[in-house]
Amino acid sequence: MTAGVDPVKLMKQQVGKAAAERVQSGSIVGLGTGSTTAFAIQYLGERLQSGEIQDIKGIPTSFQAIVLARQYGIPLVGLDEVDHIDIAIDGADEVDPNKNLIKGGGAAHTQEKIVDSLADQFIVVVDSSKLVDKLGSTFLLPVEVLPMAVAPVMRAIAKLGGKPELRMGVKKAGPVVTDQGNLVVDVKFDQIDNPGELEKTLNNIPGVLENGLFVGVADVILVGEVKDGQASVREF
Ligand code: 5RP
Repeated sequence: MTAGVDPVKLMKQQVGKAAAERVQSGSIVGLGTGSTTAFAIQYLGERLQSGEIQDIKGIPTSFQAIVLARQYGIPLVGLDEVDHIDIAIDGADEVDPNKNLIKGGGAAHTQEKIVDSLADQFIVVVDSSKLVDKLGSTFLLPVEVLPMAVAPVMRAIAKLGGKPELRMGVKKAGPVVTDQGNLVVDVKFDQIDNPGELEKTLNNIPGVLENGLFVGVADVILVGEVKDGQASVREF
């Protein structure tokens, strides 16, 4: 391992690269959001620019993904221009032993769920700190909410046993506003015993757009690890 390099950054770089290496010429690729996926987008762009692969089209999941794709020369298309997505690469905040996920740390889970669910193969890229026995144990569950419905949605979530808090901006006064112009409520649940049921229950509250539970969506989990000072990637 390079001296002085942050091990978490190294894991993210390696796992992002490993996912980008799985993309073949001619693919329509879902481009996820977050610091790990940013490395995948960078390596994908580098493979495209070097001629190692050709004719890639990206479907972005956020404004961040659009900016990175443009920076690294990946042509973008919208969902109305394609009839399928071959592969999607995206990060996660938690991964359980059944490959279920919590996403939304970057407030992009609504678009991410659309794109990742449509992909023939959805590859999740995480560092080893994201693996948990039970969802909700380390990360609050993000819920995207229409601004006018925040108060009733928070009350409804509290009735379900969750502790909701409105996500506030960092280096920005006021709440985080999503790419769709909505707000994010982060919820602490003591136990998420049935993620599939909770996903549906939350989305059924009027005013909720989407929550960060991704149940049965992931196909492959690539995990970046650092062991004995060496970064490696394993398939989970
Ligand atoms: C954004 C996400 C991200 O994929 C998730 O937060 C992981 O991000 P990172 O790779 O920076 O840890 O769900 O909404």
